[in-house]
Amino acid sequence: MKADILLGLQWGDEGKGKIVDVLAPKYDIVARFQGGPNAGHTLEFDGRKHVLRSIPSGVFASGSGANIIGNGVVLDPVLFREEAAALEAEGLDLHSILRISKKAHLILPTHRLLDAAGERAKGSSKIGTTGKGIGPTYTDKVSRHGLRVGDAIGPDFIERYHALRDRHFAMLKAAGAEIPANFEDLETTWLEAVKYLCGFRLTDTEHYVNKALDDNKSLLCEGAQGTMLDIDFGSYPFVTSSNTVAAGACTGLGLAPRRIGKVYGIFKAYCTRVGSGPFPTELFDETGAEIRRIGHEFGAVTGRERRCGWLDLVALRYAVMINGATDLIMMKSDVLDGFDTIKVATSYRLPDGSETRDFPYSIGDNAEGSGSMTPVYQEFKGWKTSLADKRTFDELPKTFKDYVAFIESEVGVPVTIISVGPDRTETIFK
Ligand code: GDP
Ligand code: IMO
Ligand code: MG
Repeated sequence: MKADILLGLQWGDEGKGKIVDVLAPKYDIVARFQGGPNAGHTLEFDGRKHVLRSIPSGVFASGSGANIIGNGVVLDPVLFREEAAALEAEGLDLHSILRISKKAHLILPTHRLLDAAGERAKGSSKIGTTGKGIGPTYTDKVSRHGLRVGDAIGPDFIERYHALRDRHFAMLKAAGAEIPANFEDLETTWLEAVKYLCGFRLTDTEHYVNKALDDNKSLLCEGAQGTMLDIDFGSYPFVTSSNTVAAGACTGLGLAPRRIGKVYGIFKAYCTRVGSGPFPTELFDETGAEIRRIGHEFGAVTGRERRCGWLDLVALRYAVMINGATDLIMMKSDVLDGFDTIKVATSYRLPDGSETRDFPYSIGDNAEGSGSMTPVYQEFKGWKTSLADKRTFDELPKTFKDYVAFIESEVGVPVTIISVGPDRTETIFK
């Protein structure tokens, strides 16, 4: 069997959690391959809402077999315990269905302090991180200082923890950052949470997933964040610290490229971005505020307002190219129900006056504002009908189908799933 991947094509929050939950019954295994508790993946069914951060969105699927936290993930034991304990209190037996890679890196309390200190030092050019210690943890991984989940069961774990913590203390001191007065409490809580984490199935997940594919089991790899937040291909430096693109599933789970089958690329019918950085199609007017209000565009983790704008096909084409997306999934179509006119950016006008359909090296390096590109828009008539009660593609209004067909023709990949509401059932397979 081949492994399929589902990942975000925009700036995150495209609705990955919802669709992984919808697709999960078709798969034996669901595996997260990168990111950490910076993610907030929302699932809704039976009138209830769940926000998952580090745990794969396959855990609720009927007959849920195995869910994996891969080596590419960074894990905060305290947040993991909070999330896992809440799910177990609801009746999920995570101790049986969840496996955690021994090679996943641990987020320490001091990583969060370093994240905050780094943001303070950047001042007005701050990234607007989620404050979860993501950047410093991946930095330690790459600079070969990190601690991994598998280290936590070793005899010298506490010494290694102290060594890394003290290194961080020195870095914080050099940055003029204060160690909070309650640090000892934070540390005690963290060490208890590490013990809790060690009670789960710590696994060499690279062996597990490859053997599962050899045994004809099916695997869905779940991305976090989105392509425009990728450390290599996103709007650097306003990105996260991992490879969010399809290649990240190979390194984040130990899968060879030939193991990959479908790549589901997921996008909203418009764009949002949370945190700083350039955003070419951002709307600063009443229309942007209207999209935010109707789409409830506030962060699932931080509650921050998401910046809103029109769909950007220059960025989407780029994301499809980098990921080799084979299937597109369009989310939150219902949010645009009431608009008279819907705009889509098909190219950018560059600062020198020329026009490009190819995503350029830089779209601007300012923390705030739309960036240095001026989008060139194509306008569409709105469908002015509620989509939320539609369940088949045939029922959808022609104006909406035209919008979808235009996107497909511009991007060159079919839209195979359309989402018309947050609930599991509000999903149309084309
Ligand atoms: P993720 O990080 O990609 O999993 O996405 P988030 O969960 O952060 O954000 C997506 C938000 O949109 C969540 O609040 C979902 O419940 C909601 N949502 C998902 N699909 C739809 C949809 O088709 N329509 C509407 N109105 N909301 C949706
Ligand atoms: P999901 O998986 C949207 C953004 C932050 C910030 C930048 C770097 O729910 O789509 P970090 O804490 O990762 O160092 O922050 O990335 N960011 C996200 N934006 N959705 C996410 O995850 C995000 N995870 C990080 O806002 O701009
Ligand atoms: Mg999210």
